[in-house]
Amino acid sequence: MTVANEPTRYTVTQILLHWTIAVLVVLQLVIGEDIKPAYRAFSRGTEPAAPDIFNANVHVYVGLAVLVLATWRIAIRLRHGVPAAPAEESVLQKRIAAAAHFLLYLFIFGMPITGVMAWYFGFGAMGTLHELAKPVIIIVVGLHAAAALWQHFFVKSDVFVRMLRPAGRRAR
Ligand code: HEM
Ligand code: HEM
Repeated sequence: MTVANEPTRYTVTQILLHWTIAVLVVLQLVIGEDIKPAYRAFSRGTEPAAPDIFNANVHVYVGLAVLVLATWRIAIRLRHGVPAAPAEESVLQKRIAAAAHFLLYLFIFGMPITGVMAWYFGFGAMGTLHELAKPVIIIVVGLHAAAALWQHFFVKSDVFVRMLRPAGRRAR
């Protein structure tokens, strides 16, 4: 997207949203399986045990929180924009980063939406899609985090630091 007044840094809110969503997504990947006993019980038409319902609620509400925060985040992105990729990067590198960010956005919207379709509306196929996405997300997030660290320690660009230090603070 072209923004008339392209920012050079992320805002405090963008940074807080990035890291909050990152923590919640990693948590969901870790606790994801805990929703299964309750989901299976409801799918069979039986009553799940109380601890299974509790575990399921944690997964559902953390996932819905990700959806709300992701909506907030995309709204800020459309209004404020995001800093451009470093000028030294090749066209290929820029395309890979853009594609990875697109996929990450797809996950933070797609996971809650497919989850809601499975949990509240009983679309089993959406549950399967939701499950199949797990290894793909782990790979993309892993590569994304590795790329950020590689930029910081080897390329020595400001890409990692700008997701830590907000706009308005002077860069060293
Ligand atoms: C960022 C958001 C979310 C992530 C990253 C996520 C991740 C996961 C993971 C990793 C699993 C276990 C998959 C497996 O072990 O094969 C899972 C299962 C499940 N999740 Fe989520 N989830 C999210 C949001 C939601 C939401 C909002 C709901 C419901 C409102 C939900 C409903 C379910 C259901 C029903 C299953 C069991 C699917 C099945 O067994 O077929 N999830 N989720
Ligand atoms: C856990 C380790 C993580 C690290 C070290 C990390 C680091 C970063 C950094 C440095 C950027 C800025 C890139 C730039 O300005 O060009 C960024 C952007 C981004 N990250 Fe992460 N991230 C992590 C996890 C996640 C997770 C779990 C998600 C969501 C599933 C995520 C989604 C995104 C998105 C969508 C952007 C693009 C922001 C935009 O320009 O609109 N990140 N990340």
